Amino acid sequence: MKIETKDLDFSGKRVLITGAASGIGAEMAKTFSEHGASLILADITKIQKDDYKRLSGLVKTIQFDQADPTSIAKMSTEVGRVDVLLNNAGVVWMGPFEEMSDLDINRLIAINLVGHITVAQKIGRSMLEQRSGVIINTSSQLAFHGAAERAVYAATKAGVSQFTKSIAAEWASKGVRVAGIAPGRTLTALNKNALDTHSKRNIALQGIPAGRFAEAHEMAKLALLLSSDLLNYVVGETIISDGGYVLL
Ligand SMILES: NC(=O)c1ccc[n+]([C@@H]2O[C@H](COP(=O)([O-])OP(=O)(O)OC[C@H]3O[C@@H](n4cnc5c(N)ncnc54)[C@H](O)[C@@H]3O)[C@@H](O)[C@H]2O)c1
Repeated sequence: MKIETKDLDFSGKRVLITGAASGIGAEMAKTFSEHGASLILADITKIQKDDYKRLSGLVKTIQFDQADPTSIAKMSTEVGRVDVLLNNAGVVWMGPFEEMSDLDINRLIAINLVGHITVAQKIGRSMLEQRSGVIINTSSQLAFHGAAERAVYAATKAGVSQFTKSIAAEWASKGVRVAGIAPGRTLTALNKNALDTHSKRNIALQGIPAGRFAEAHEMAKLALLLSSDLLNYVVGETIISDGGYVLL
């Protein structure tokens, strides 16, 4: 069966993107806008509507803190109907694990795992009521591959992928499809310190068979395809897009 342009048309769909102020989330906003979606953009950073003025379909921007359950609850009442949730906000902490403070450990888990799960639950409840919706969780290649100096980050992302499988199994029969994307090293602010010298970039590249880092728009396109009806039989999987990193 031929794939038609309309298969990737999100007109009439309200898409909530968390972590939309920068990096992969900002590219998701652009890509989904180009495919007709109505956008609700949420982030801890105040999103300046002016920055997104060129995007068609911007409905609203919301400031919230994924580390704070009260803030998540407030955000989820402000969003209105959501057809697609791109559950994408996240942070990283890099360095020797033995030097990580309790505060750093707890904050990383609070944002990347507890907050992520809470967002999915709050938005998912409304999707269950409307008996339709798609949730795409942003995991990481490190859910599938160990990495020195990112132990707790990797643990949170493995948690995200396992969570993805389990709620997908629970909600698929109730009209809500859940899946995930696992980006490889993508050129965003998240990697600014990790890739800020020539030698750090060269070492990182040695682990990537494709020989390059990913661009944020590549992850946005993956999220678009995965949340479209074209892939509506993909349930619970986290799709890895990492230039082959996990193969080595
Ligand atoms: N860049 C990579 O190499 C890479 C690789 C694998 C997975 N990821 C994941 O992709 C997602 C997006 O990351 P990115 O690379 O675009 O990084 P980024 O830093 O450019 O974007 C992350 C966004 O999340 C927001 N955010 C951070 N803490 C928040 C909080 N407490 N509440 C609400 N929003 C908050 C930030 O303000 C920012 O806009 C993250 O979940 C990250 O773990 C990134």
